[in-house]
Amino acid sequence: MKVLVLGSGAREHALVKAVAADPEVEAVIAGPGNPGIDATAFCVPVDILDGAAVAALAAQHAVDLVVIGPEAPLVAGVADVCRSAGFPVVGPSAAAARLEGSKSFAKEVMAAAEVPTAFARVCTTLDEVAAALDALGAPHVVKDDGLAAGKGVVVTDSRDEALAHARTCLAKDGGCVVIEEFLDGPEVSLFCLSDGTSVVPLQPAQDFKRVGDGDAGPNTGGMGAYSPLDWAPATLMSDVVERIAQPTVDEMRRRGTPFVGILYVGLALTSRGPKVVEFNARLGDPDGQAVLARLETPFAQLLHAAATGGLADFPDLRWSSDAAVVVVVAASGYPVAPRTGDRITGIDAAAEVPGVVVLHAGTRRDEHGVLRSAGGRVLDVVATGNDLAKARSAAYRAVELVELEGSHHRTDIALKAARGEIAVGV
Ligand code: AMP
Ligand code: GLY
Repeated sequence: MKVLVLGSGAREHALVKAVAADPEVEAVIAGPGNPGIDATAFCVPVDILDGAAVAALAAQHAVDLVVIGPEAPLVAGVADVCRSAGFPVVGPSAAAARLEGSKSFAKEVMAAAEVPTAFARVCTTLDEVAAALDALGAPHVVKDDGLAAGKGVVVTDSRDEALAHARTCLAKDGGCVVIEEFLDGPEVSLFCLSDGTSVVPLQPAQDFKRVGDGDAGPNTGGMGAYSPLDWAPATLMSDVVERIAQPTVDEMRRRGTPFVGILYVGLALTSRGPKVVEFNARLGDPDGQAVLARLETPFAQLLHAAATGGLADFPDLRWSSDAAVVVVVAASGYPVAPRTGDRITGIDAAAEVPGVVVLHAGTRRDEHGVLRSAGGRVLDVVATGNDLAKARSAAYRAVELVELEGSHHRTDIALKAARGEIAVGV
């Protein structure tokens, strides 16, 4: 099998490595990839938002499968163009990717499918926002309706701050915000593969969205993750499939817009059971990296089954009993104003720590071949170990070996879980 993977972040680096490790895969092409991906895949520059260019690349290399990593090409309809050109694709159509692209659409589908989620009001004027904030009470949750790279959500006790964020979102063309009930309880990411009909869940992970230790500071794209979640209820995966993922996939199929790809179910485990915080139409980043580090099933075969309606007959997934911890090394100033262009060294030394893999997120090589930062999240240090404590200590030993001026990372990824301090509300 030849596989084309689209994207250029650490998630795509993990996807490429996992696909390449499948014995049925003879070649991986990455568009455009990054300097880390380049070690495993043949990287080709391409505008991943240009469906015709992507389909041409797939044709040129006669690939058997296209895997779309990020949300933007999905929302732009790149999966539709590739499917029309005859390629099996992991990644939903533009119509189905609205589950991620529009929070109000996701709410409408959840309501139709009777999926448990936060009570919400969709608002297009500041007066409606004010009324919704008062009706729902603090803490306030204000979400930009459209795509915002994980930064469109403000959770605050301050009514003024909530209004200010809503004002910014509404000022955009076609501005629309969703005001939500606050969901209490630990957050979990559960990725569900779907071929449009059947659903196969991966194991859950927990993601750390705030920039600072102890969940301080603004939201980011994700600063770290771990898997498995020993503290989560044993029935979590089957509950989420039965009450959330399968009804959502059924509703999308009923509407004539089947969801083929990875449904990212972002959950809060509340005292009244798991409720959906958000849907995404792709693997999480970096939470996906924690999950893929533990998957033993040949991944390309699994993805191919999802892309070709074959999940119902696919054998049960196999998982390593190891724990995986991902620590993101972020650029100076991330997430507010990341600085790029700084030299990165120490990756080889970091990768020599037993159990550690270093994934490239935002990196590039300059004209002299020197590796430099090129984005807010620069590297992912992924470590596996017999338990979370061992995986954490390997990850942090490796992080200390990476040198990037001004960089920062969270020091508490998986700490509470390793100490047994997380409890699901009762
Ligand atoms: P989203 O982009 O919808 O995932 O929101 C980003 C983050 O904001 C989530 O991971 C949560 O930490 C927080 N958040 C979103 N919605 C809620 C909610 N209804 N209650 C509590 N926290 C929320
Ligand atoms: N880690 C959060 C996301 O991928 O949206």
